[in-house]
Amino acid sequence: MSVKVFAHRGASAYFAEHTRAAYLQALADGADGVECDLHLSADGELVLLHDDDVDRTSNGTGFVSALTLAQLRALDFSSWKGAVIPPLFGGTAEQLLTLDELLEILAQAGRSVDLAIEFKYGAVFDTRLVDATLERLRLHGWSPEQSMAGAVRVSFMSFHPKALKYLAQKVPAQFLCQLLEEVKDVQETLGGAPGGAPTTASLLRRAMAEGERLVDSGVASIAGPGVDYLYAHPENAARWLGAGRSFRVWTVDTEENLALCQALGVTEVTSNRPAEIRALLDRI
Ligand code: G3P
Ligand code: CA
Repeated sequence: MSVKVFAHRGASAYFAEHTRAAYLQALADGADGVECDLHLSADGELVLLHDDDVDRTSNGTGFVSALTLAQLRALDFSSWKGAVIPPLFGGTAEQLLTLDELLEILAQAGRSVDLAIEFKYGAVFDTRLVDATLERLRLHGWSPEQSMAGAVRVSFMSFHPKALKYLAQKVPAQFLCQLLEEVKDVQETLGGAPGGAPTTASLLRRAMAEGERLVDSGVASIAGPGVDYLYAHPENAARWLGAGRSFRVWTVDTEENLALCQALGVTEVTSNRPAEIRALLDRI
């Protein structure tokens, strides 16, 4: 079976993540799909950003949920990366993108493109982000029934099992993806010491166990573990693929990681380097 390549936050190894340049490069690189992270701004706009705040990826500061779209628009989301943006992609500092703008970019690709949307939450899940996204997608002509027929084929991902359960009431399971990560990785991401606060660790472990249950029970059809998770639990690949599911793994940036995925029969990989991964796959 051929392996699909998703560009992680666009071609984010080369251009600032979640920018127009990163997505245009991903399309030029032949990515089969693109991934994005979604948040709600203070005035309810759907914006593409990984972190809860803008500090790492812009020249501003503050939580995205406390900033309006106009305030976010005033920030430079590309200079931190230090990459020169070719004139083809505008040649100026990049602004933050909205979901609308990404959908317009994909609609102009001239071919079918998959879009993997990740809903970002802190500790607390609330339904507004999912509801606003589904409403906006419908305005762009998407519907669960037609999502495989349109030019942009959408799937929905989250680390948060509650988000998947909520989505399962609205979208067929085949379009849902439960993200799974090792507890120690999450602790490192949060800056905690290995073995950190027991309450955090046990909460994360419970969330992951719940996520695995969702995948096993078919609520989330596409198992979406990280590549480290896959190294630790290779037996899950056979179990989930055996149930007839597609299987998406991130972040696959090296030949070694791609080889692992191929050996296990992974059907979709998410990469910061779609051109290189696409070239490796096309060589085989
Ligand atoms: O594609 C899933 C992956 O993006 C989840 O991790 O931290 O990169 O959003 P993160
Ligand atoms: Ca993501």
